Amino acid sequence: MSNKLRLTALGAALAFGLTACGGGGAGSGGGNDTANADPSDLTIGVSMPTQTSERWIADGNNVESQLEDAGYKVDLQYANDDIPTQQQQLDQMITEGADLLIVASIDGTALSSQLQAAADANIPVIAYDRLIRDTDNVDFYVTFDNFAVGQAQANALLVGLGLQNADGSKGSATGPFNIELFAGSLDDNNAFFFFNGAMDVLQPLIDDGTLVVPSGQTDIEQAATLRWQQETAQSRMETLLTGSYNDGTVLNGVLSPYDGISRGIITALQNAGYGPNLTSTPRALPVVTGQDAEIASVALIDQGVQSSTIFKDTRNLAEQAVTAAQAFLEGDEPEANDTESYDNGNKVVPAYLLPVQTVFKDDIQSVLVDSGYYTESEVQSGQAD
Ligand code: GAL
Repeated sequence: MSNKLRLTALGAALAFGLTACGGGGAGSGGGNDTANADPSDLTIGVSMPTQTSERWIADGNNVESQLEDAGYKVDLQYANDDIPTQQQQLDQMITEGADLLIVASIDGTALSSQLQAAADANIPVIAYDRLIRDTDNVDFYVTFDNFAVGQAQANALLVGLGLQNADGSKGSATGPFNIELFAGSLDDNNAFFFFNGAMDVLQPLIDDGTLVVPSGQTDIEQAATLRWQQETAQSRMETLLTGSYNDGTVLNGVLSPYDGISRGIITALQNAGYGPNLTSTPRALPVVTGQDAEIASVALIDQGVQSSTIFKDTRNLAEQAVTAAQAFLEGDEPEANDTESYDNGNKVVPAYLLPVQTVFKDDIQSVLVDSGYYTESEVQSGQAD
C-alpha cells in the first residue's frame, strides 16, 4: 500500500474512533482501500522466474508496460530460476507495501510462507501462467489452456510425421514411427497438463503400435526436464540415442514441450548425424515439436529444422493479468472462464484460460508476423530486436 493510502486508512480509522483490527498492516482492507485510490498511488509487484528464456522477458515487459499504461507503479523482478531469490523478492515486495502481486513461480509449491504474509496484509495474488500450489492464498490464475497445449503438441507431431493432416483428418503415412517423449519441470504444474494433454492423443497410437517409444520411457518422471533447461534436454537426448539407437534404429519424432528443450534436443540429434534439417538425406532430422514461439525456434522452423511450435500470445496473457489486477484493486472479482480445472491441492483456483495456436513454417507469416508479434527481419535473424 502506498504511504498516501496508508495515511488515508489511518485517518479514517481515527475519525471513526476505530482501533486497529485483525488483518491490519500493509494492505489492510485490501480491495476496499485500493478502490478509492488513484492508480498512480498503487504499486503492483511482478515476480517472474527467469531471464534466460525469451518468453519470460516478453511477459515481464508486456505486464509492466500494460500496468504502467493503466497508471500503476510496477516493481518487476526476475529470480534467475532460483527459489530463494524469488522468495526474497516477494518478501521484499510485501514489506515495501505492494498492493497486489502477479507471480509466475519457479517452483509452484515453494511460496506458501510468502503468500501467507501477503494474505495477512490483504494483498491479492494472481498466479501468472503457472499455478501456485498448496496454498489458499492465491486469488486468481491467468494462463493458457494448458491441456489443449499438450494436445496441440501431440497433433503437431502427428502432422509432422504425416499420420495426420493439419485439418485433423487422417494423413497418408501409416507408420510405425519411432518417437521419444520429453516433459517439462516437475515442480511446474503446467508440465503435467502439457504431458497429459499430449498423451491423451498419443497413448492410443502407442497402444496400437503406430507409434513406438524405443527407450520405453513413457512416464512423466522419466521424461521430465528440471527447470526446462536446454542443456538438460540435450544430455537426455544424447543418452537416449546412445542407449536405444546405437544399433541403427532411426528416430522419427520427438515430443518436446518447450522451445528451449527443443533446441537442446535438435543439437543432440545434429551432433549424432541427423539432419541438418527435416528433409536432409540420408537421415532427416526427426520431427520435433515445441512451445512459446521463441524467436530462435521460429527461425529454426522457418529454416525447416524444427517442425512446429505452439504460439501463446503473451500480449494477451499480460492483458488478462492487468484486467484481473484492476478488478481486485477496484474491489471487484475478476471474471473467470474456468472454475474447475485448476485444483492447487488446497482449492480450485478460478482461472482465465486463453487459446493457443499451432505454428508450422507456413503459419509464421500469418500468425506471428501479420499480428505484429515478430518482424520478418527478426524471423530471418532469429533474434528479437
Ligand atoms: C511453462 C510455460 C511454458 C514454458 C515453460 C518454460 O510454465 O507454460 O510456456 O514457458 O514454462 O519456461
